[in-house]
Amino acid sequence: MSGRAAFPAGGRDWADLQADMRARKADDIDWKNGRAPLYVFHNDAETYEVGRKAFFEYFSENALGRKRAFHSIQSMEREVLDYGLSLFSAPEGADGVFTSGGSESILVAMKTARDAWRAARPGRGPGSPMNIVMPDTAHPAFDKASDLLGYEIRRGAVSDDGRADPETLRPLIDDNTIALVGSAPCFPYGVIDPIDILSDLAQTTGTWLHVDACVGGWMAPFFTMNGRATPHFDFRYAGVRSISADLHKFGFCPKPASTVFFRDAADMARATFVADAWPSGRFETSTLVGTRPGGAVAAAWAVLNHLGTAGYRDAARRLAEMVDLYVADVEALGFRMIARPDLSIIAFTSETEDMFAVAKELGTHGWLVGQTRRPPGIHAMMSLFHAPAREAFISNLATSLDRVRGGGAAGRAADVVY
Ligand SMILES: Cc1ncc(COP(=O)(O)O)c(C=O)c1O
Repeated sequence: MSGRAAFPAGGRDWADLQADMRARKADDIDWKNGRAPLYVFHNDAETYEVGRKAFFEYFSENALGRKRAFHSIQSMEREVLDYGLSLFSAPEGADGVFTSGGSESILVAMKTARDAWRAARPGRGPGSPMNIVMPDTAHPAFDKASDLLGYEIRRGAVSDDGRADPETLRPLIDDNTIALVGSAPCFPYGVIDPIDILSDLAQTTGTWLHVDACVGGWMAPFFTMNGRATPHFDFRYAGVRSISADLHKFGFCPKPASTVFFRDAADMARATFVADAWPSGRFETSTLVGTRPGGAVAAAWAVLNHLGTAGYRDAARRLAEMVDLYVADVEALGFRMIARPDLSIIAFTSETEDMFAVAKELGTHGWLVGQTRRPPGIHAMMSLFHAPAREAFISNLATSLDRVRGGGAAGRAADVVY
């Protein structure tokens, strides 16, 4: 008998199923109390309820059918994309796609960049060598896209402040470069790359610049509006040709929800895949997936309208206050921030302590501990679940540090798998 689960006989009622699911959850991380350093994002209970209710209002509707069957989804999706275009200073003619997440947004952007690159180079079809140039800190979604689309990844070292260094990227660009990438912010260090300078580099070399604002897109502008020194990253820089921005991270919308925007109508057309050969008729999608949840579109529309500028600015203010307190407390224990956070990702290290040992020790207190490998450090992408958890985190961090200093623990980088 193998360990494979047998196909169910059926007949279990909801009460039984719910009890089973809840029992299975017993071993899950206590994310509602801020113990997860990523995966879940929270503003407040009201925003959560608005998103949840809107999602279930459209639980069965399929956003694939928005043009023919579900015109309400079509209108809400249009408005969500319009909100993003305004937020990102997009010029007339720009447009976007509602996707299932950052990885899909990035894949769609890279496919579009490839098609634009090919359009400018007649004869360079399938089989031509291609590459994308990006800082060391860019997300593995680009590696995945490169595997699927068949191009090489060229990574350049970042500056001491954790941001992309345009001078290390410049020599990596050649005529086979389909895109240059900057992040807003990058996941490992939480800082926004110098998009203004990357934009100039993209323009002088004739390269497509993609900004991966999956983490910061729907939040960083409100930090900036509040007077924080969070840098701009959007279409105001003429070299920026596409932007990915996740609603299901700091837009506080239910998963799966992301957006990808294109400066030019011609690029939006390139993003759209058309198949017309089969017996059933023309099939047109700008997403990787076909069927997709109408609930995700409805929920994003509802959350954006619920929060609006005032709500997001308020969330940005509370996030910024929380991050400042974390940074002060972490530094007071003698750790060094790897970079000054632009948003609410913190990453810290130490020149003297074994950070992997500290991380491992911290994990024994019920925290799922995020880590960086270069340099060895502790990492957290924090939302407002993490505000009430701060005192417990800092106290457990201090205890863990004491134990490591006392020689009671040792750690390994391999302990973390995302
Ligand atoms: C900077 C960045 N880009 C892209 C992604 C991929 O997003 P998703 O997990 O929604 O596919 C992430 C995920 O954390 C990210 O941090």
